Amino acid sequence: MASAIEHIFTVTALLSVVLFSHSAAEPVPAAWPEQFHSVLFMNRSGSLQKLDLWYDWPNGRNFNIIQDQLNDVVDYDLEWTNGTSFMYTLHPSDRHCKVVHVEVGILRPNWLDGATYLGQEQVDNFLCNVWEKVDFIVYYEDVLTRRPVKWIFYTGYTAHVMTFEVGAVLEDAQWQAPEYCFNQTENMLESATVRGDSFGSLMRGKVDAAAA
Ligand SMILES: *[C@@H]1O[C@H](CO)[C@@H](O)[C@H](O)[C@H]1NC(C)=O
Ligand SMILES: *[C@@H]1O[C@H](CO)[C@@H](O)[C@H](O)[C@H]1NC(C)=O
Ligand SMILES: *[C@@H]1O[C@H](CO)[C@@H](O)[C@H](O)[C@H]1NC(C)=O
Repeated sequence: MASAIEHIFTVTALLSVVLFSHSAAEPVPAAWPEQFHSVLFMNRSGSLQKLDLWYDWPNGRNFNIIQDQLNDVVDYDLEWTNGTSFMYTLHPSDRHCKVVHVEVGILRPNWLDGATYLGQEQVDNFLCNVWEKVDFIVYYEDVLTRRPVKWIFYTGYTAHVMTFEVGAVLEDAQWQAPEYCFNQTENMLESATVRGDSFGSLMRGKVDAAAA
């Protein structure tokens, strides 16, 4: 008798541990490291890009360096957390710069807070936890290493994470926009919020609209 009661007690205790840990264990996305470099392969409806992402939160800056497949003209999208973005090219055949001001800074390391957990999925050959921020992004993180593997903007524009170097910092000299960014005619300056479907505007414009 005593052992039967003991048994029931043990089962109940085990069950409550299982239930409790199950409800408490819904995964949350890892915060982004304060500084990292990542190479992303981007796909927009079959148009491919290689994108170098230099995220540098302590210095209030983020760099997206974008190369379209087999295109020598590289697009530089340099974002400062004061809202100024310099979007330029350096290639002699197509040298220009556009300076844009937005109301928001760069993404915070915890920008994924509050995302909705969707479960696990095998993605790009990695077992991933998946979250969604409605009208913004679906985000896939490797279950084992907690590194991002892939994300899909609401437009379908997709990032595959090829490298993720935590702590890598691009040297200061590389963050200098070219001279011709500081020699702008009036109509090249825009005060409006960035819109459109470029990587930078998606990462910057939409997340804060979603958070607001
Ligand atoms: C890019 O995305 C399209 C769907 O938009 C898909 O059909 C295609 O296979 C993808 N290409 C690569 C290289 O992943
Ligand atoms: C924001 O910071 C960058 C880099 O220091 C600077 O070039 C730019 O003029 C600043 N923008 C504003 C609006 O102060
Ligand atoms: C821009 O720079 C060029 C020389 O590179 C100069 O001739 C021109 O006057 C400048 N324009 C403005 C609006 O400052």
